[in-house]
Amino acid sequence: MKNKENVVFFKSLLKSPLKTGAFFPSSKNLALSISSFVEMPAEDEYIIELGAGTGRLTSAILSRGIPESKLIILEMQPSLVKFLKKKFPQTMVIEGNASEMIKLLPEHVIGKISTIVSGIPMVNLRFQEQQAIVQSCKSVMKQGGVLLQFTYRPGSPLPSNKLGLRQRYLGHVLMNMPPAAIWEYMAVQHIVAYSLKDHFQFKRAKK
Ligand SMILES: C[S@@+](CC[C@H](N)C(=O)[O-])C[C@H]1O[C@@H](n2cnc3c(N)ncnc32)[C@H](O)[C@@H]1O
Repeated sequence: MKNKENVVFFKSLLKSPLKTGAFFPSSKNLALSISSFVEMPAEDEYIIELGAGTGRLTSAILSRGIPESKLIILEMQPSLVKFLKKKFPQTMVIEGNASEMIKLLPEHVIGKISTIVSGIPMVNLRFQEQQAIVQSCKSVMKQGGVLLQFTYRPGSPLPSNKLGLRQRYLGHVLMNMPPAAIWEYMAVQHIVAYSLKDHFQFKRAKK
């Protein structure tokens, strides 16, 4: 299976090098490290994986005990979508661009996404493309939801200030070729809304 995965992945690299952004799927170490930051969604919440490729990260997320019905996979390359549908028959696999989630996702999950795990090579994208994807993430996330992103480059893969994000470096995975870093982002307006909620709850409690 691993060889078939590599062949399918390599073909997608030939078709679209910048969007695929890597020579091989993520290693098991990287996939397990990223998935360790994915929290179990609450009863009415969901997790989305963007740019699932051949599903290495998907398998790691599911191995944490997250039910398949709680995970939605989005991938833009048709050949990879076909592969993913076969590999994860119980999971919702959507073909399309991550910048159009509001149109692509079923209505009942909008505003209920607690974590978005992205394998999209953000550093290869122009600012406008990054902005469109981040905006799309904000439009479907619950308040306080997080975006997890890995990168092979030094520093944050997204310009957080310009995109209205708060960033947090979560760690490095050295046992991956090349070594990768994991970053977490949260929408600044969500943080402000959170603080206001806390503030008013505190004031009410004091009365
Ligand atoms: C580096 S590969 C990661 C694959 C897999 N997540 C892994 O870790 O092995 C990036 C994937 O993102 C997909 N992709 C790139 N831009 C995308 C976009 N705007 N919307 C959806 N998928 C995208 C590519 O087709 C590719 O499969």
